[in-house]
Amino acid sequence: MEFILEQNEIREDYKVKPKASPVIIIWRKKPTKGLLTLFVFAIVVPVLVYFFIFDKGTFPVEDANTCSVDKKYRITCGITDINATYDYCTNIKCCFDNATRLCYHYLPSKYFYYNKGGNSQTYDRSLEKSPFGQDLTKEISLTINEIDENNVQIILHDTAVTVDSNQVLDKNYKVNVSNNPLFVEISRNTSGDILLTTADGPLIVSGNFREWSFQLTDQYLFGLGQVLIDLDENSTLTKVIYANNNDHNTLPLFMAHKNGQYHGLVVRHSGLLEITILPSKLVSLKSLEREKIVLELSVGPTPHDVITQQRKGKWGTIDMKTLGVHICREGTVTTLKDILSDYSQEKSIDFPYESDCFHDNLVTALRKEKSEQNIENVLEKIKSLTDSGHSFMLSVPPHIVFGSALYDNGTQLGIFYKSGNKTYKGQYLKNTVVFPFFKHTSIDSFVQLLVEELKGYFKDTFPRDFILNNNWPKDDSFVFENYENFRFFSKEIIDAMSYTLPWDVSSENQSQILDHNDYGALQTQKFLGVLTESSVMTAAHNFETTQPLIIQNVAISWVNFKKSITQILYNSIAGSPMTSVPVCGSTSDFDASAHEALCTRWYLMGATAPIFRISSDLPRRDPTSLGPGAFGQAARRAIEVRYSLLYYYNTVLNQDKEPLMRPMFYDFPTDNDTFPLVDQYMVGRHLLVAHPTLPDRTQITIYLPKAVKVWYEFWGGEAFGAWSNKTWVTLTLVDTDLVAFVKEGGIIPWVTDNQGTKLVQLKVALKCDSDNNCDAEGSMMVGLESLWRPW
Ligand SMILES: *[C@@H]1O[C@H](CO)[C@@H](O)[C@H](O)[C@H]1NC(C)=O
Ligand SMILES: *[C@@H]1O[C@H](CO)[C@@H](O)[C@H](O)[C@H]1NC(C)=O
Ligand SMILES: *[C@@H]1O[C@H](CO)[C@@H](O)[C@H](O)[C@H]1NC(C)=O
Ligand SMILES: *[C@@H]1O[C@H](CO)[C@@H](O)[C@H](O)[C@H]1NC(C)=O
Ligand SMILES: *[C@@H]1O[C@H](CO)[C@@H](O)[C@H](O)[C@H]1NC(C)=O
Ligand SMILES: *[C@@H]1O[C@H](CO)[C@@H](O)[C@H](O)[C@H]1NC(C)=O
Ligand SMILES: *[C@@H]1O[C@H](CO)[C@@H](O)[C@H](O)[C@H]1NC(C)=O
Ligand SMILES: *[C@@H]1O[C@H](CO)[C@@H](O)[C@H](O)[C@H]1NC(C)=O
Ligand SMILES: *[C@@H]1O[C@H](CO)[C@@H](O)[C@H](O)[C@H]1NC(C)=O
Ligand SMILES: *[C@@H]1O[C@H](CO)[C@@H](O)[C@H](O)[C@H]1NC(C)=O
Repeated sequence: MEFILEQNEIREDYKVKPKASPVIIIWRKKPTKGLLTLFVFAIVVPVLVYFFIFDKGTFPVEDANTCSVDKKYRITCGITDINATYDYCTNIKCCFDNATRLCYHYLPSKYFYYNKGGNSQTYDRSLEKSPFGQDLTKEISLTINEIDENNVQIILHDTAVTVDSNQVLDKNYKVNVSNNPLFVEISRNTSGDILLTTADGPLIVSGNFREWSFQLTDQYLFGLGQVLIDLDENSTLTKVIYANNNDHNTLPLFMAHKNGQYHGLVVRHSGLLEITILPSKLVSLKSLEREKIVLELSVGPTPHDVITQQRKGKWGTIDMKTLGVHICREGTVTTLKDILSDYSQEKSIDFPYESDCFHDNLVTALRKEKSEQNIENVLEKIKSLTDSGHSFMLSVPPHIVFGSALYDNGTQLGIFYKSGNKTYKGQYLKNTVVFPFFKHTSIDSFVQLLVEELKGYFKDTFPRDFILNNNWPKDDSFVFENYENFRFFSKEIIDAMSYTLPWDVSSENQSQILDHNDYGALQTQKFLGVLTESSVMTAAHNFETTQPLIIQNVAISWVNFKKSITQILYNSIAGSPMTSVPVCGSTSDFDASAHEALCTRWYLMGATAPIFRISSDLPRRDPTSLGPGAFGQAARRAIEVRYSLLYYYNTVLNQDKEPLMRPMFYDFPTDNDTFPLVDQYMVGRHLLVAHPTLPDRTQITIYLPKAVKVWYEFWGGEAFGAWSNKTWVTLTLVDTDLVAFVKEGGIIPWVTDNQGTKLVQLKVALKCDSDNNCDAEGSMMVGLESLWRPW
């Protein structure tokens, strides 16, 4: 305590008032100066006897090419929306499965590339036609780019394209490229475990189309928008990566567990990508890409290492304001009059928050509006918002209203996507709009004009913080129907490619389908290129973006509640630790009485999420709108919980530089009981949080990892865990309570506001040995300084 009190004299805004209670054990002994042990718990590594032998050789290979491929490894061949016949399959050089009436590839596939020898760096096709009837590309190149000792890229590319190719001497992996047939195998240099092989599927290249496969493990595979990818022997998982209304943020990223260690893989691509995971964890890719497809492997060996390696250390600083509460309003109105009446209907907001966007459609409305009076009224309201210490965070969609001044400017620059020779016109909120191409050679001038336009509207209320919304980009007018040209993909693409830019609109002769997944990231990059001091949250992103993410178009339901937790956890391991899902959903489907229990739970989840954002269509669901009754109070209470834990969150993100809300396996990587869990997760190293994810639950069952002897229930201090044989505990649920546990040895700062003075209370979970020597560690970062560390 001494240490904190000392600091307190320097920082007047902090008053530390230790409070002893049976619940919260406060450290009272003065530690030997600065020498308190930093306890790092040791995980007992069990002897793993259950792992299978790696893939090759798990099925009999009598012939050079065999059809007796284990069902779990069968990659479909040719088009799949017909009942295939033996003749069809044989014609396209594949095997016939009489039970499913599908063709599948031989093992090894008859579709491959090979090097004839000599010094040639290129590979020739094995056959002339693809299973879909197109000419196969005659020659391709494959380059291994060793980025550093832990990261390596396998780049499959056109022969005319030059790519980076680096070599590293001391590294933690070994690369083996087989020339005939061409495949790549990468193994861990210490254990020899194979981390990746491309040997088990076809390699098909024709024009922009590529089909390829890789296997990372046959044990546990995580990622692709989920935590554990759990498939039974008869199921496959197909996911189309193509940013759209329903999913604008899943990146093709995997984490694999093999023999107790982890490695990760990112598929770097910009175009349409379809990924199918087979029951064997074999991953099959179909992609439309311009010139290359890049598989980037990171060797781990811990989940934390994998994330750090994938992000190459890029980890933005997150300020306390970002961690606070953000509110916004959505809907279909696009006139200032409606937006204003909507806003003035808001009762004065009576809960703490950081930023308000006024209305998601503000920019679109301003572009259409002529009435000076309405504009004045908006600015006045924004002024009163900022005068009261809140920030104004402006939503800027990429859509440009047809006929607006910016439309004229953009047309002169030739910046907009075209359909044929004409500017493509889509629909956004019932307005005709056009779409800038963010790779256009004149884009910088255009974004400059756009920023000037915005400055013109907002004058001295021009914000510093922005939300780049609907930037996958949303287009209400386009429904993808002509599947005929795309039969080499699955029917999943029909939904994925609708309500966003039509795949064939183009700019600078380039069809947008090949850049589609970069749209939001390019917009973010160009925007920040002009507004260099600004901060941005974006809906669509890619691997180059580190900005916080917002997920849009979420309907409230228990299924989506669980999905939201999964998405945040997935993004945490996919290098986007700052992900937000609108609290209680965002679509107009909301009924305060029907959704009370679910919405309260969602608030509690939001309290532990990296970003807390309440943004929806009508009816609104901020605490004020929920009213003064029990529901509104529960929502306010959840916000209080969040603010009390804010310094803990700040410390996890900015000092530990770790994701805040993360899947259990991140902290317990060798405990396979944690792998399938999404109803519970860790918040930082010390806090475990759980939620019911089904309606009408009166009890909740939680797994308390056995590597930790004691887990203290957060509110009551009751001890559970392995010491009492309680690793699975069942608790009675109270609708309005956050279910949380503190790990022994951890300290959690709990900060409350007492009439402007911050009180820091420490929740100390002592870890004691058999001689009753106890310790705990923790730290608290205030601003960019650590207030106390180590404890
Ligand atoms: C495949 O055959 C089944 C049963 O014979 C039939 O119901 C189905 O419509 C057929 N599918 C196609 C795409 O022809
Ligand atoms: C395919 O299966 C059907 C029954 O499902 C059977 O009558 C037929 O003989 C089988 N054909 C082959 C080539 O195995
Ligand atoms: C693995 O790589 C490291 C360098 O990163 C090297 O020191 C070590 O000797 C290698 N181990 C083996 C078994 O090759
Ligand atoms: C590379 O792979 C080939 C084919 O699997 C194998 O024969 C060879 O021994 C491997 N080389 C090394 C250095 O692992
Ligand atoms: C998979 O399919 C086979 C054959 O239809 C069946 O016997 C088996 O029970 C199925 N397995 C699962 C996990 O459903
Ligand atoms: C942009 O458009 C406006 C209205 O059409 C025009 O007055 C202005 O000169 C244009 N600016 C540039 C830089 O082209
Ligand atoms: C575009 O315009 C050129 C000449 O201006 C014309 O030759 C071409 O056919 C047009 N293309 C389309 C798709 O309309
Ligand atoms: C687009 O392609 C056509 C023909 O392929 C070519 O004549 C034209 O110059 C190209 N335009 C641009 C902007 O590259
Ligand atoms: C964990 O591994 C053991 C074998 O060591 C296995 O029996 C068990 O099913 C696994 N649990 C999960 C959840 O995968
Ligand atoms: C835990 O279980 C073990 C074996 O079942 C037993 O010996 C031990 O007494 C139990 N401990 C407690 C605290 O119940």
